[in-house]
Amino acid sequence: MTDKQDMKEKTGPVPGPGILDIAPYIGGEAKIEGVDRPIRLASNESALGPSAKAVAAYRALAGDIFRYPDGGSEALRAAIGRVHGLDPARIVCGSGSDELIALMIRCYAGVGDEVVYSRHGFLMYPIGAKSVGATPVAVPEKSLTADVDAILAHVTDKTKLVFVANPNNPTGTYLSERELARLQAGLPPHVILAIDAAYAEFVNRNDYEPGIRLVDKAENVVMLRTFSKIYALAGLRLGWMYGPPAIVDVVNRVRGPFNVNAAALAAGVAAVEDTEAVARARAHNDKWLPWLSERLARLGLELTPSVGNFVLPRFPDDPKRNADAAFAYLQQRGIITRKMGGYGLPACLRITIGTSEENEKVAATLAEFMAS
Ligand SMILES: Cc1ncc(COP(=O)(O)O)c(C=O)c1O
Repeated sequence: MTDKQDMKEKTGPVPGPGILDIAPYIGGEAKIEGVDRPIRLASNESALGPSAKAVAAYRALAGDIFRYPDGGSEALRAAIGRVHGLDPARIVCGSGSDELIALMIRCYAGVGDEVVYSRHGFLMYPIGAKSVGATPVAVPEKSLTADVDAILAHVTDKTKLVFVANPNNPTGTYLSERELARLQAGLPPHVILAIDAAYAEFVNRNDYEPGIRLVDKAENVVMLRTFSKIYALAGLRLGWMYGPPAIVDVVNRVRGPFNVNAAALAAGVAAVEDTEAVARARAHNDKWLPWLSERLARLGLELTPSVGNFVLPRFPDDPKRNADAAFAYLQQRGIITRKMGGYGLPACLRITIGTSEENEKVAATLAEFMAS
């Protein structure tokens, strides 16, 4: 019996439409039994850890945690505005960009509506759509890259939002500024384009733009950002959104009055202002992303070029050499990576760029695995 049938036969509370169709999100593993300090390369967390200034700001807050946080995230919005040259009134902060994804969907989609996303896009888009009874529409990609024409061809009268992670997790691919502008230009004005630029700070390409310029040009574009990746504050849950005043107004009506906690606000201000820490993290990724990509390619693994802080090697079909076998081999040696079956990429593993030692260890262990 399915959960749905089971629910119908019971007389108790029934959740809203779509909710029982959600397969709960499974995060990256954090532990390996019997291993004290596993190498954790499963969640695209920062290799270098947070800015010392962010940690100090977090600690300094300890005596004040009995106070409610600033419900308007004013100091943080002002700091983000200063650093990125944006009007703070057009910024909304959230408890991770996950919350902002969910809020955007809750504000603009409902039963019978469609939320369009790219086939191998971030899983929170279909989960968010189902949670409000909307239909997630997965659009095929080309070479594991979002396909603008295919996305436009899947937009219907029912479409309320189009989500593009740029760069995308887990594929690591991206759309150029021009392609994103072409996507926006092809959308009806009532459809929102949500550009999820969680990995923007890692991208090192001249034709890339995180979405700010498109938000400034159009009434139907928002850009989502996170403090979980290059800023290394994943544990505090902090994200932000930049959008047109009308959309910002809508989201501010619906979000919780104290949706961002005080520790996240304090650490966030220090982190966004510590541009040196960001530059260090970026330089680290600039060095190790090509290094790890090249090492894995040398082993005969197929890789789509990634511009994020992770790679997505594709393993052979041979059961002794496939992604499941590689995952188990690494796990037995204390290294946690991410299986990709949930993203429809069961032949791949996603591996986050770690510290120098971690990258060397994962490359050497995979070389051993392929030769074993
Ligand atoms: C594309 C993308 N968007 C959003 C998020 C969520 O970020 P946050 O930790 O801010 O909720 C992630 C996290 O992995 C991501 O990969």
